[in-house]
Amino acid sequence: MKKRILGGQLPVSAIAMGCMRLTDAKDSPERVIETALDLGIDFFDHADIYGGGRCEELFGSWLAAHPSMRDRITIQTKCGIRSGCYDFSKAHILSAVDGSLRRLRTDYIDVLLLHRPDTLMEPQEVAEAFDALQSAGKVRFFGVSNHSPMQIELLKTAVKQPLVANQLQFSIPESGLVTSGLNVNMKNDESVMHDGSALEYLRLKGITVQAWSPFQGGFFRGPFVGDRETYPALNETLDKFAQVYGVSPMAIAAAWILRHPAKMQVVSGSVTPQRMREIADGAAVELSREDWYEIYRAAGFRLP
Ligand SMILES: NC(=O)c1ccc[n+]([C@@H]2O[C@H](COP(=O)([O-])OP(=O)(O)OC[C@H]3O[C@@H](n4cnc5c(N)ncnc54)[C@H](OP(=O)(O)O)[C@@H]3O)[C@@H](O)[C@H]2O)c1
Repeated sequence: MKKRILGGQLPVSAIAMGCMRLTDAKDSPERVIETALDLGIDFFDHADIYGGGRCEELFGSWLAAHPSMRDRITIQTKCGIRSGCYDFSKAHILSAVDGSLRRLRTDYIDVLLLHRPDTLMEPQEVAEAFDALQSAGKVRFFGVSNHSPMQIELLKTAVKQPLVANQLQFSIPESGLVTSGLNVNMKNDESVMHDGSALEYLRLKGITVQAWSPFQGGFFRGPFVGDRETYPALNETLDKFAQVYGVSPMAIAAAWILRHPAKMQVVSGSVTPQRMREIADGAAVELSREDWYEIYRAAGFRLP
């Protein structure tokens, strides 16, 4: 499995297993987690809210049965979303981490992300929470999710730990991260920048982009691979490259994200072993520049 160095500091598998849908698995959670490990996936992405805490609990049960695995895997979780509001207060961050540690049945979290920007956030409070978590040995690395460059800069006025990752939505049809940059100076919808040049900023700062929902169109609108009605040209093109590279279309969709020189990590949400294997194959595919742009255009995007 190809590697990524999160924030230039933490080596991890280029494909991560997102655990948000662990409660939906038809196979046992143990089999799903062990399939990931067999494929060389050593990074597990959680959030305190996934499955109302149940996803962390299922993972924690597996970990409790396999304690020797703890230092061979990387566990990431997120905090900051509460029912009806976002909350980056010191008290909430500290209690959320304690809850995650308890459910995950571990003494430390490798990476803690702030899940979605809280406009009522006080950078100093976040800094105090991060300092307390780091000095207690409860969290090793910190990052953010769904944050703009200026929101990260605001945090950094007080937070002294490096932020190693920003988890953002990115897939072939949901490729705003690259599309706006390809349409600078054009008066069309694709030039609208929704993230404040996040991709370029994160590359400049050495913060790793983690692509969430890498196989979904829209915001959980459903997978695009195999949906020939909504994405006919894209599926035709994925099928073509799947044949060329001797892998599945899922592998090509993963390889498309991995091909970007930002060296993104793919946070895959599949909990079906056969599909997980197809996705992992994508880490071995090196798409050419021409392939990459052909797939992008097949999703309906124009190059000005
Ligand atoms: N930071 C954030 O705000 C945020 C938001 C959302 C998600 N996340 C993280 O990102 C991870 C991935 O998100 P996601 O689960 O939405 O991503 P995803 O990998 O794009 O989607 C996975 C889901 O799509 C299904 N699927 C994928 N390809 C399919 C196909 N060709 N045919 C049929 N079904 C297909 C999977 O089913 P099978 O299980 O059957 O394969 C699974 O239900 C989450 O687990 C979570 O860790 C973060």
